[in-house]
Amino acid sequence: MIKIGIVGVRGLSFSGAFCSMPDDVKITAICDLDEGCLEWAKGEIEKKSPDASGLKAFRIYDDMIEKGDIDAVVISTPMQCHVPQAITALQAGKHVMCEVTAGVTMDELWWLIENVEKSGKIYMYAENYCYIPDCQLVRALVKKGMFGEIYYGEGEYTHDCTELRNWHGKTGWRTYWQMGTRGAFYPTHSLGPIMQCFDDDRIVSIASFSPGNHNPYGLRNDDLTQTVCQLESGKLVKLRVDTISPRPHETMYYQIQGTKGCYEASRFGGEAMIAIATEDDPKGYEHWRPLSDFKEFLPERYKTGEGGDAGHGGGDYYIVKDFVDAVKTNVQPELNVYKAAEWTSVALLSQLSVTNQGRLLEVPDFRPGMTWEEKRIKL
Ligand SMILES: NC(=O)c1ccc[n+]([C@@H]2O[C@H](COP(=O)([O-])OP(=O)(O)OC[C@H]3O[C@@H](n4cnc5c(N)ncnc54)[C@H](O)[C@@H]3O)[C@@H](O)[C@H]2O)c1
Repeated sequence: MIKIGIVGVRGLSFSGAFCSMPDDVKITAICDLDEGCLEWAKGEIEKKSPDASGLKAFRIYDDMIEKGDIDAVVISTPMQCHVPQAITALQAGKHVMCEVTAGVTMDELWWLIENVEKSGKIYMYAENYCYIPDCQLVRALVKKGMFGEIYYGEGEYTHDCTELRNWHGKTGWRTYWQMGTRGAFYPTHSLGPIMQCFDDDRIVSIASFSPGNHNPYGLRNDDLTQTVCQLESGKLVKLRVDTISPRPHETMYYQIQGTKGCYEASRFGGEAMIAIATEDDPKGYEHWRPLSDFKEFLPERYKTGEGGDAGHGGGDYYIVKDFVDAVKTNVQPELNVYKAAEWTSVALLSQLSVTNQGRLLEVPDFRPGMTWEEKRIKL
């Protein structure tokens, strides 16, 4: 039985999935600075869990790590807490599943990698958009070669977050750590599902551009950023991160282009579409077909309905399942610390790029055993 502690319980997004696996896992501790939130979350977990006996609540994170009787921590606090809390957990011998983004400085990413390597504990990057059923289906079609060789991907996160910058009348963390910074500070929901289609390729350089800053709130972030990522293979990925523009919420827009056709998610809440050449229809790339016509290619486990009503189309269940399996088998998950660092570094380097007229910046090759000399930003 894996005993879980959750820190930052206002969202509680993964708790339902943990409660639905009572043979393998149990939430035994929760932690939040906000007492009201802690009380509410305790009630919610007691309702969802078949056995919530002994659930302990803490306001101070170090107390949960020390006295919580836990094997693993789920970190759902604001971004600037992620690396310090992950390192505390790893050094205390706990596994970690951490919300996005992985960290807020490049040095933090390297501290994180060093601590994961030294501890031998599991670190999973909770990039749940990779687990959205449509993203899994498109990835399966890419793997089957149905788009031919893919060479271009695009992801957009357009979510007017300006209302979220304050909490109960107080300035919230998003004001400083998200909309208070320049560049594509929150790129991994858009990047993760696309990079999963490019298999073992990696991002070698990025350049970020913006149309300036026209918001009426005095926020430091640009109206939006367009970031171009060049992959080692020479292929291209483009990202729009936009948390300020007044427009409808659309955080799951993606495109893939290959030699035999393409995929486009819907921007308007409708169906995702693909256009591909097939043996029966060699000009099939000229017309759209609903992605759902291809749902037989969804990974088998998604067809069972096991994910139930977990968030992001059931994807939040499968990401938790993969974390639990990683801990059980002691094998690092696919969304490991190196991917977390690579995808998060796009945010951090884009701050430098966008403030230097879109200067092209090299992305370090995050991998096991990087030397100290390699852990730097090359200008
Ligand atoms: N994967 C997704 O789809 C998704 C969606 C939203 C947010 N997020 C990420 O989840 C994280 C949390 O976002 P949110 O919207 O739930 O934020 P939030 O501000 O609503 O909640 C954060 C909670 O953490 C608590 N907290 C803050 N500092 C703490 C500390 N030091 N110790 C203990 N508790 C502390 C706060 O009291 C609050 O209850 C962020 O990293 C965000 O980027 C991910």
